[in-house]
Amino acid sequence: MRKEKLLDLLKQMTREEKIGQLVQVAGEVFLMDNVSVTTGPLKSLELSNEMLYQVGSILNIVGSEKIRKVQDEYLSKSRLKIPLLFMADVINGYRTVFPIPIAQGCSWDKEVVYNCTKISIQEAGASGANVNFSPMVDLVRDSRWGRVMESIGGEDPYLGEVFAKTMVEAYQGEDISKLGNAAACVKHFAAYGAAEAGRDYNTVDMSEREFRQYYLPAYQSAIENGAEMIMTSFNTINGIPASVNPWLLRELLRKELGFQGIVISDYSAIEETIAHGVCKDKKEAAYKAIMAGVDIDMMSNVYANHLKDLVEEGKVSERLLDEAVLRILTLKNKLGLFENPYGNTNEEREKKVLKSKHNLQAARKLTADTFVLLKNEQQILPLNKENKKIALIGPYADNISILGSWSIFSDKSKIPTLKHAFEEKMGTQNILYAKGSEILEEKEINPILIADGGKPIHIENEKEKQKQLLEEAIEVAKQADIIVLAIGEHYRQSGEACSRANIEISQIQQNLLNELSKLKKKIVTILFNGRPLVLKNIAEKTDALLEVWFPGTEGANSITDVIFGDVNPSGKLTMSFPQAVGQCPIYYNYYNTGRPHINNYRYVSRYQDIPTQSYYPFGYGLSYSKFEYSDLKISSNKMSKNNPITVTVKVKNYSNIPGKEVIQMYIQDLVASIVRPVKELKSFKKEYFRPWEEKQITFEITEEMLKFWNEKLEHKAEEGEFKVFIGSNSEDTIEEIFEYREAN
Ligand code: NOJ
Repeated sequence: MRKEKLLDLLKQMTREEKIGQLVQVAGEVFLMDNVSVTTGPLKSLELSNEMLYQVGSILNIVGSEKIRKVQDEYLSKSRLKIPLLFMADVINGYRTVFPIPIAQGCSWDKEVVYNCTKISIQEAGASGANVNFSPMVDLVRDSRWGRVMESIGGEDPYLGEVFAKTMVEAYQGEDISKLGNAAACVKHFAAYGAAEAGRDYNTVDMSEREFRQYYLPAYQSAIENGAEMIMTSFNTINGIPASVNPWLLRELLRKELGFQGIVISDYSAIEETIAHGVCKDKKEAAYKAIMAGVDIDMMSNVYANHLKDLVEEGKVSERLLDEAVLRILTLKNKLGLFENPYGNTNEEREKKVLKSKHNLQAARKLTADTFVLLKNEQQILPLNKENKKIALIGPYADNISILGSWSIFSDKSKIPTLKHAFEEKMGTQNILYAKGSEILEEKEINPILIADGGKPIHIENEKEKQKQLLEEAIEVAKQADIIVLAIGEHYRQSGEACSRANIEISQIQQNLLNELSKLKKKIVTILFNGRPLVLKNIAEKTDALLEVWFPGTEGANSITDVIFGDVNPSGKLTMSFPQAVGQCPIYYNYYNTGRPHINNYRYVSRYQDIPTQSYYPFGYGLSYSKFEYSDLKISSNKMSKNNPITVTVKVKNYSNIPGKEVIQMYIQDLVASIVRPVKELKSFKKEYFRPWEEKQITFEITEEMLKFWNEKLEHKAEEGEFKVFIGSNSEDTIEEIFEYREAN
């Protein structure tokens, strides 16, 4: 449809119809019969039936049949036949589930992230999703926050930028109306990941410079690469909730960054500004949100019930309303919904695409590239398929809950467990199995179940049962040559509203490991979790440690591929793992203090009881190959804008195992007008090496890489000396010095 036609359509709309476009409700309300609609959820939303058939979009209803039913019913009652938009949370997969986003980022591989994203949206699109609430690009530094699992770039702004672009490209392609594409909604704008003390929804207060330097780049990258939508965050930013923050949404987002797409609030976030204490009632919340620039109100009724009065009272102009409506009509038009209101969904396609053999095979391959090998003493891994008896022990040894907390549309049938996967590789006779323990004790799981609206459980004779599970595990372990222990967080311990003050594996699982370690057998631990954990005890009692996060549908098969050496692990951490929770927030690109912790003097910036550095640093991850770095050379030790320089390094695989290595380049501005981090990631390359192969790897250093937000909030490079570091993680590097001049 041409723009003039859209403007025509807008002209024909009544004020109520326009306001309807700015309202989003959860899809269930359409799938209920009339009685329950008017007495059930709708009543609590206080939406009139008339308004229901004017709302512009729907949340989390997918499935070809459902979409057709809802769209048909809606259009049959809609005066102007403006189709509904269907938006969904397809975070790390739809029917086929991929590793959680933080794991995908640990691949440090654009192709891996692209393919996980692409297949997810191909499946969700076949089921009718027009818009996906992804990518989540919030920068995260505090593992107490449960949503670090969703962060594609982890603690690094550059990784966030790179993967934001990759994901938007994968979702949207060249044309969002085409088969296999959909609109991306980048979230949560802004700085949601900086919640104080890692407590979800909590206050964010930071300098504008800090915000621009670290938190903004990933959102900006998604916007510059064409993301059609952006979602506001729940938190306040410097005193004002994001959803009613005119500086954030009008000045920065629209004017400075030039964002033309739709702004949607997070779930009931507009109404929550009343609880924040910046709006006295829903009417004021509606006023402040629309004035700030929020186009769609997700699941609070403040726009539906108050915008009309605000316009009639002359407080909100019709023009403002029209602008928001036009943005929504424009997206519907770009998606081709006026011509085909069902988008790309039909039942036949759905059957063909969802969890297809191709998608499962792809998932198995992609997933293995997201694992991070944290420890491998005496090269105990990979295991030999032939001769050993393996005791597979732990609550994750035969468990399908390995999809992560966002797997709301997943197909949970036929998910291989580790036990199946091990038996497939080795045959049944050499695999002994024991559960060993539950993931959590009754007292730990109950608060989670209750918060989810479920009933608490009661485990009769819990202590005795625990003892029995432990004894069985020890018996099994005694008969084996090697122990493979599968432990981790419960999948509901990470995700939204899953902040934790203690970020260790539960005591019963630690106890299991402690007891097994007394047998003095080799232990390989496989770790399922959604956040960096405090791993000291586990790492010390374990010979090999493989971080697999929540790996998704094909996770178990991918794990055995890595454990038995069919795939060489190549993931690297995107978040620092702390020594103790007291270190949080911890990140590699920190500022030096005036008293850096160089040695053990008393009056330096350090902890008395633990080291200052992380337990596992950013960028860290082992391989079955052995990579060595040497001969760092820069093309010149002077550079300027027009004379960028290159830096080269030799990387050699000193092993007969082929493998991939992520070569990382960091830069430090040694003296500047404001403090600068000890190092910042500026580029990386993931390269494949044949056995004993040596490669010369080259990076360019450009002026752009040296820029930062100075005290006047200008984004500029300053003249002076810089250090370039290259290495296999943020701590293990070799370095050189160069000088930057504006002109030379
Ligand atoms: C709340 C979450 O914060 C957001 O990430 C999600 O997209 C919405 N709910 C919709 O489900």
